Amino acid sequence: MDKILILDFGSQTTQLIGRRIRDLGVYTEIIPGDSPLSSEALATQTGDPVRGIILSGSPESVYTPEGAVPDQGVYTCGLPLLGICYGLQRMTYDNGGLVEALHQREYGGMEVTVKGEAGTGEGTMGNGELIRKFLAGFDPAVPLRDLTNPPLFYPPVPFSHSFTAWMSHGDTLTRLAPGFREYGASAAGFPAVVAHESKPWFGLQFHPEVTHTERGREILAAFVFGVCGGKPGWTMERYIEEVRAALTERVGRNPVLLLISGGVDSTVAGALLLKTLDAGQVHLMYMDTGLMRKDETKTVTAALERLGARHLHIIHCEEEFLSALKGLSDPEAKRKAIGDLFITIQEREVSRLGLSEPYFLAQGTLYTDLIESGKGVGKKAHVIKSHHNVGSPLVDAKRRAGHIIEPLDRLYKDEVRRLGRLLGVDEEVVRRHPFPGPGLAVRILGEVTREKCDILRDADALYIEELKKRRSPSGERLYDEIWQAFAVLLPIRSVGVAGDVRKYGWVLSLRAIVSADGMTADVYPFPIKDLLEISTLITNTVKDIGRVTYDISSKPPATIEWE
Ligand code: XMP
Repeated sequence: MDKILILDFGSQTTQLIGRRIRDLGVYTEIIPGDSPLSSEALATQTGDPVRGIILSGSPESVYTPEGAVPDQGVYTCGLPLLGICYGLQRMTYDNGGLVEALHQREYGGMEVTVKGEAGTGEGTMGNGELIRKFLAGFDPAVPLRDLTNPPLFYPPVPFSHSFTAWMSHGDTLTRLAPGFREYGASAAGFPAVVAHESKPWFGLQFHPEVTHTERGREILAAFVFGVCGGKPGWTMERYIEEVRAALTERVGRNPVLLLISGGVDSTVAGALLLKTLDAGQVHLMYMDTGLMRKDETKTVTAALERLGARHLHIIHCEEEFLSALKGLSDPEAKRKAIGDLFITIQEREVSRLGLSEPYFLAQGTLYTDLIESGKGVGKKAHVIKSHHNVGSPLVDAKRRAGHIIEPLDRLYKDEVRRLGRLLGVDEEVVRRHPFPGPGLAVRILGEVTREKCDILRDADALYIEELKKRRSPSGERLYDEIWQAFAVLLPIRSVGVAGDVRKYGWVLSLRAIVSADGMTADVYPFPIKDLLEISTLITNTVKDIGRVTYDISSKPPATIEWE
């Protein structure tokens, strides 16, 4: 299966490059920016042929010591290269061009004009056809289907096209490296699209992987199919076959224990195990912490039973969690108490199960989890979400013994959803919004009590139910347009009236955001009519809530959760 490698220099959008190209059907792998890249290293990297390499963006500059430097073999391996932002600056700097700081950063949507003159690529040293194939990605006259299945020959037709591209850079190219030529510039006059005249090397100063860039998908397709000659081979059906074969071989007849959280990832991992191994081998353990959403335990149990689960161990530990949280109001103290108790209960319950050794421990780890916890990127990269991955002595011991299985570790979230559908996981579970490990405890600000959990559960369930009933102007359920929605119980009460009586009720905040994968998020522009009606419904139904607000903060600077 053809593969595109992405050298990760630490940009927050590197994963998006991988996702966009996989959506086009070509397999991608993200590797640390300083990985060995000699022809031999590439040949042994995996069995799959690498068709091209993308050099990602980075928060660093080529002049800061923190900026990862690629193995210089990248320039001699002969493969097509695409430098994006820092990746382009890196290629320029490493090959004798000049990169300098801008007086003012170019940030956000910027106009870029690309020109393919009559005879584009003619007169270049043998690279004309490849350059035309690349520039076709920018030409509004060329549809995506022609880019994913490019003709052998593109006539040199002149075109000039201005479009909006998403940029975020403080340095620019002030002199191209020898052999490069500029085909597009930003409105401020800086090089935005360049190509080498004799080598299959291309560069973009903007981010085609970000949806705000017009024709971003087309530009990536032009590189992957036109320049690299990539063939689509990445399908979920194929992934299932590969993972099943690998799982059967690795696990044999031994037992497997999967810790289920109720979220999409662990449920789909459970489905994959149940559809691959004998159901008698598969043990699923789920902790009901009392900090779950309304009816969560019932929904999860039903979904897993429908998938054929035979050993489903539900641990009811609400009392333990509530007493561990008693008197705690500091967010970090709450998270720590929950993390510690998770581990204690996990150890106790697993040993109570008494699975015969060696047994395997399965986790629903995704590709993004590996990257975010620092395994996929270079040692200097910026690690953003390590706090979400609570270590556990059991997981560590199993990893040391080589008894961990992570069957989703090559997948992105949307691919997990596709896989779940193929495996027959309930549509409602597949579409479910993400839910944090510490559950409602981080959505009840201040001290957590059972009473507050019940109030929040009721209000949240009403909110979510309404989002599932209501449609947006485009006809989609509001729930499906929103990436994550939930209610938060604030630690304040305010005065209101109910009938003629003054009432002192809790304040609830509603959150709804759109996002690619939770790293950044925009506020969902809620239709005001729906917001008003949902607010009325909540204050009329949940008697302890006196006032409802809507959180209009994006991430950054706010986070998605409140604690
Ligand atoms: P933040 O609040 O960091 O959240 O912007 C980003 C995404 O991660 C989820 N989240 C967590 N998930 N354990 C998890 O498994 C956690 O401790 C945790 N904290 C936040 C959050 O719901 C959002 O989707």
